[in-house]
Amino acid sequence: MTSADIRQKFLDFFASKGHHIVPSAPIVVKNDPTLLFTNAGMNQFKDYFLGNRQPPYRRVADTQKCLRVSGKHNDLEEVGVDTYHHTMFEMLGNWSFGDYFKREAIEWSWELLTEVYGIPKDRLYATVFEGDAAEGLPASSIALDVWRRILPAGQIVFGNKKDNFWEMGDTGPCGPCSEIHVDCRPDAERAQTPGHLLVNKDHPQVIEIWNNVFIQYNRLKDGRLEPLASTHVDTGMGLERLVRVLQGKSSNYDTDLFTGTIAATEAMTGKTYSGGDGRQDVAFRVISDHIRAIAFTIADGQLPSNNGAGYVIRRILRRAVRYYYSWLDCREPLLCRLMPQLAGQFRDVFPELQAQLDFVSRVVREEEESFLRTLEKGLRKMDDILQRSEPGSAIDGPAAFELYDTYGFPIDLTRLIASEHGHSVDEQGFEREMKGQKDRSRAATATDTEDWVVVSDEATAGQVFVGYEQLQAPARLLRHRRVRAKGRDFHQLILDRTPFYAESGGQTGDQGWIRFGEVRVEVTDTRKENGLTIHVVPELPDGLVTEAEAFVDTERRREVAAHHTATHLLHAALRQVLGTHVAQKGSMVQPGGLRFDFSHFAHPRDA
Ligand code: ALA
Repeated sequence: MTSADIRQKFLDFFASKGHHIVPSAPIVVKNDPTLLFTNAGMNQFKDYFLGNRQPPYRRVADTQKCLRVSGKHNDLEEVGVDTYHHTMFEMLGNWSFGDYFKREAIEWSWELLTEVYGIPKDRLYATVFEGDAAEGLPASSIALDVWRRILPAGQIVFGNKKDNFWEMGDTGPCGPCSEIHVDCRPDAERAQTPGHLLVNKDHPQVIEIWNNVFIQYNRLKDGRLEPLASTHVDTGMGLERLVRVLQGKSSNYDTDLFTGTIAATEAMTGKTYSGGDGRQDVAFRVISDHIRAIAFTIADGQLPSNNGAGYVIRRILRRAVRYYYSWLDCREPLLCRLMPQLAGQFRDVFPELQAQLDFVSRVVREEEESFLRTLEKGLRKMDDILQRSEPGSAIDGPAAFELYDTYGFPIDLTRLIASEHGHSVDEQGFEREMKGQKDRSRAATATDTEDWVVVSDEATAGQVFVGYEQLQAPARLLRHRRVRAKGRDFHQLILDRTPFYAESGGQTGDQGWIRFGEVRVEVTDTRKENGLTIHVVPELPDGLVTEAEAFVDTERRREVAAHHTATHLLHAALRQVLGTHVAQKGSMVQPGGLRFDFSHFAHPRDA
C-alpha cells in the first residue's frame, strides 16, 4: 500500500461509519492566542468541545497538517536524530462531538488496524489511564472493560497522567486517553523481551501509533479541571508512523512519504543516504523533514520573520541549511530546488502547495541565500568560541548573543553545534543579552514630550484647514511644545488656521515655512493628533509673535497631488486588468513617487 492508499483507507473507513470528511485546517493558527501552529487534529474543533459553537456534523474525520515545534508539544531536538519524530506530520483523526464515546472509538480503531490494515493482533498494545489522586481523576474503567474484551491482559498497560491524560496546551479541552502501540521488533527479540515492558519507553521499534482521547474536561487558567457539559472523542494517528508499520520499514524515512525528497537530495548533492546514525544521514533526515514544515507553513500564509510564528519557520529553515552546508558540502540554496518534487507528491491531498509553488520556492530561496551569506563566518566564529572554551563548559551569553545578532544563528542552532562538541549554552545569559538589547532600543526610540506652551488662550478645537483652496494663509500661533524623540529635539506648533495638509492615509504631510514678522521657521513635516494639525519645526527662535503667515511648499505639494491622483488611476487600472477583487492594502504618496500595495491571488492556471 502506498501512503496515499493508506490515508485514503482511513478516510473511507470512517466515512463508512457515518463520518463527514473535512479538509485539514491551515497549519498556521491565526485566531487562537494559545497556539502558534496547529499541533493536533482537534485544534480546529476546540470550540465544539467547549460548547461555544454548534458543530455542523456530530462525526467528522480528516488528515490534519500539524507542527510540533513550540509550546507544550515540541519535538524539534529529536527530529532527524531519531527515525520517528517530525516537525510537520499528518494526523489522521476521527471525532465525535457529543455523539459516540469510548466503546465505539476503541472498537473501530481495533477494526481498522487489524481488519483493514491487517496489523497482526499480537503486535498491538493498548494503554489505559490508571487515574490520578491529586487531580481527583478516576481510572478509565470503561476503556479497560472494552479492551479486556479485545486483548489478552498481557497486551494492556496502565499509564499515568503524563502518558494517559491528554491536554492540548496549558488550558483547553482535555481528558484521559487510551493509546495503541505497535511492536515492530523481529520475532526473536520479541520472544526475549515482551513488548508490554517497552511501551512508552522510547524504544525505536515499539511505538505509539494512535491516541484515542476522551474529552471530558476543560483545563482552566487557574489549573482546575472543569467537567464539560457533553463528552467527546478526539483521536490522532500519525500517518508517517502508520505508513512505516504497514510498509514494513524500521524508519519513517524509508517510507514513500520521504524517499522522494531523499532521492532528489542525493541527486543534487551527489551524496548517498544509508539510513545510519552518522551526521550525513542525520542531515538527509533533517532536510526531508524540515522542508515539509517550511513548505506547508509558507503555503498556509506564514512567512519567515524575526518574531513569533515567522521566527519558528526561520529557525527550522536555518537548522536545515546548516545541516546541508556542514554535512552534505552543499554551498548553494537546496531546499528551494526540492520544492517541485514535494509539491508534486502532495498534489492530490494538499493542492495548496502546488498552487503556490513559485511563490513558496522564491521565499525559501531568498531565506536560504540570506542565511548562507553569514553562515560560514558564523561557523568560523563558533569555532573560535569553542576553541577558547574549557571542555564541557557552557558557551557564555554574550557569545551566543553575538552569534544570534550578527550571524543569524537561532539559539537552538548554537545549542545544537555546542552539543556536538560537548558544550552547553548559558541560556539565561543569552536571555539577559536579548533583554538588554530590547531595553536599549526601547530607550533609543522613547519619546519625551513636554507640556504645551499656551501663546494664545483661544481654544484649539476651532482650528480651520484651508489647504484645499489656499497654499498660503495668515494665521495665529496658539500653542507650541518641545519634543525629544530618537535622541533629537524638535518643536510642534498649533495654528488657529492652516493650509498645511497633515500626513494621512499614506500621503506625506506638507512641508514649507511660517513667517512670524521678520522671523522665518522651516516646517519639515505636518501631522495629525486628536484631529488637530500639528506643524513640526526643527528650530524655534526666541521672540515669536502671535501673528503669522503660513506658506506651503507649492512645488512639493503639486508633486504629491499628482502622485495621489496617479494612485487612484493605478488602482482603477489594476481592477480593470487583474479583476475587481484587487484590494488596496496600503499606499505611500510622496513628492518623488508612490507605492501601492494590493492583494491579488493568481489562479494557478494563470500563474
Ligand atoms: N489530540 C490527540 C493527540 O494529539 C489525539 O494525540
